[in-house]
Amino acid sequence: MKILIINGPNLNLLGKREPEIYGTQTFEDYFQLLKGTYSQLELQYFQSNIEGELIDKLHEVGFDYEGIILNAGAYTHTSVGIGDAIKGIETPVVEVHISNVHAREEFRHKSFIAPNAKGVIFGFGLKSYNLAIESFL
Ligand code: DQA
Repeated sequence: MKILIINGPNLNLLGKREPEIYGTQTFEDYFQLLKGTYSQLELQYFQSNIEGELIDKLHEVGFDYEGIILNAGAYTHTSVGIGDAIKGIETPVVEVHISNVHAREEFRHKSFIAPNAKGVIFGFGLKSYNLAIESFL
């Protein structure tokens, strides 16, 4: 089963960025652990800070992979384009956030991903990604 994790803007800084919210582990390190835990899956990882590159990646894998796990970062709250891309592809998308976005600023309560997603998981730290993977098993 092919599953792609897509991380959006600023998530390349995990480990350094606001550690009180996002923790001290890099995503690259965490991804190695995920690959070990779910060795039966073909897990892949893509990160970009550029909205159009995220949309291109959704188009590229969205008719082929069995699942996409998307943390679109701040674009979650602003991007009609990413929302439309999810509507346009066949692969189910699970929206993920590390932090509990509903316990934070009001602008983080709005998601352009959620209405088009299979489900949403947020607030469990990096474990949110494990829970999203589990949803495809
Ligand atoms: C985030 C939450 C977003 O509001 C924020 O812009 C991020 C990270 C999370 O994983 O908690 O960049 O998606």
